[in-house]
Amino acid sequence: MNTIILAIESSCDETSASIISNAKVLSNIIADQDVHKRFGGVVPELASRAHLQNIIPVVHQAISVAKIDKTQIQAIAFTRGPGLMGPLLVGLSFAKSMALSLNIPLIEVNHMQAHVLAHFIEDPKPSFPFICLTVSGGHTQLVLVEDHLNMKIAGQTLDDAVGEAFDKAAKLLGLGYPGGPEIDKHAALGDSSVYSFPISDMPDYNFSFSGIKTSLLYFLQKNLMKDPDFIKSNLNDICASYQKTLIDSLMQKLEKLAEDKGIGEIAIAGGVSANKGLRMAIQSTGNKKSWNTYIPDFQYCTDNAAMIAMAAHYKFLKGEFSDQAITPLARLSI
Ligand code: KG4
Ligand code: ZN
Repeated sequence: MNTIILAIESSCDETSASIISNAKVLSNIIADQDVHKRFGGVVPELASRAHLQNIIPVVHQAISVAKIDKTQIQAIAFTRGPGLMGPLLVGLSFAKSMALSLNIPLIEVNHMQAHVLAHFIEDPKPSFPFICLTVSGGHTQLVLVEDHLNMKIAGQTLDDAVGEAFDKAAKLLGLGYPGGPEIDKHAALGDSSVYSFPISDMPDYNFSFSGIKTSLLYFLQKNLMKDPDFIKSNLNDICASYQKTLIDSLMQKLEKLAEDKGIGEIAIAGGVSANKGLRMAIQSTGNKKSWNTYIPDFQYCTDNAAMIAMAAHYKFLKGEFSDQAITPLARLSI
C-alpha cells in the first residue's frame, strides 16, 4: 500500500509541513519566524500569531512540492507536545479541521521522539538498540532507543537545556538569537584552551547547565571592568572555550552511558546537533571507541515536519490514531 501522510510541526517558532510517502520525504517546508529576533528569544504570543499566518501557505507549498493532490493524503500528523501551548494549539486545530474535511485520521506525535526518528529519514540508519543524545532549546536527554516507538530516558538535564546555555551566553555576549549558531560560528575561529568555565557534575547520566551561564556572567563582568572592549577583542576565544565546556559535559555522560550499556550505535539529534564542535566531538570519540555514529543532515537537526512525518509513519503502520477530542500537552515525556 502507498502510504501518504501530511505532518505539521508548530511546537515553537518554526511552522513546518511535510509530506511523506512510504517513509520517503516528498517535501519538508519550514517557515522561520523572524519576528522574535528583536526580542532575543521566542515570544509565545507572537509565535502563535505567526503560525496562524504561515500554516495555510506552508501546507499548500508542502502539497505542491510533493506533487500530490490533497485527496491522496491518508492521515494528518501533528506535534502534540512538548512545546508552547499557543503554537501547539494552532497546529493541532488546523490538523483537526483538515482531517475532518478530508475524513481521514489524525496521528499525534511526541516532538522529542520525532527528533530521534529524524535518523530514519536518510541512510545510514542506526540499528537497535541505540543511544540518542537529543539536544535542543528546551531539552537535553540521553535516550535509550529500543525500537522506533519504544524509547526511554537514561539521563537528562536537571535545570537548563544545553540549547538554553548557548542562547543565554549569546545574549550576554551581545550576539543575535538564536544564539547557538552564532557561538558555533565564532567558536570555529577561536582557541578553546584560553579560558575555562566550571560545569557541575551531576549524578548518574544527568546534566546541569544553569551554573555555567552564571559563571560566564561573572567572568564577563570582572573582565569588562578592566577592559571595556574585552568581549570584542576576545569573542572567538570566549565562544570556543565556553562551547568546549558544554560539549565536554555532554560527551562525558554519553561515553559513560555507552560504556555501561555496552552500546556502540550512537546518534545525536535536536537543534544543538547542528553544532560543528559537537559533530566533530562525536565523530572523533566515535573513531576512538569504534562506535557507529549517526549525525543528521542539518535540515533535520532543528525543528522540521519531516521528522514528525517519520514518527507518524511508524504509528500509521501500527494503526495508532488519535480522536478529534485530543488536546495538546505543553509537557510530555517520551
Ligand atoms: O530542536 P530545536 O530547533 O528547537 C527545540 O525543540 O528547542 O533547537 C533549537 C536550539 C536553540 O537553542 C539553538 O540555539 C540551538 O538549537 N542551535 C544550535 C545550533 N543551531 C541551533 N546550538 C549550537 N550550535 C548550533 N549550530
Ligand atoms: Zn525541537
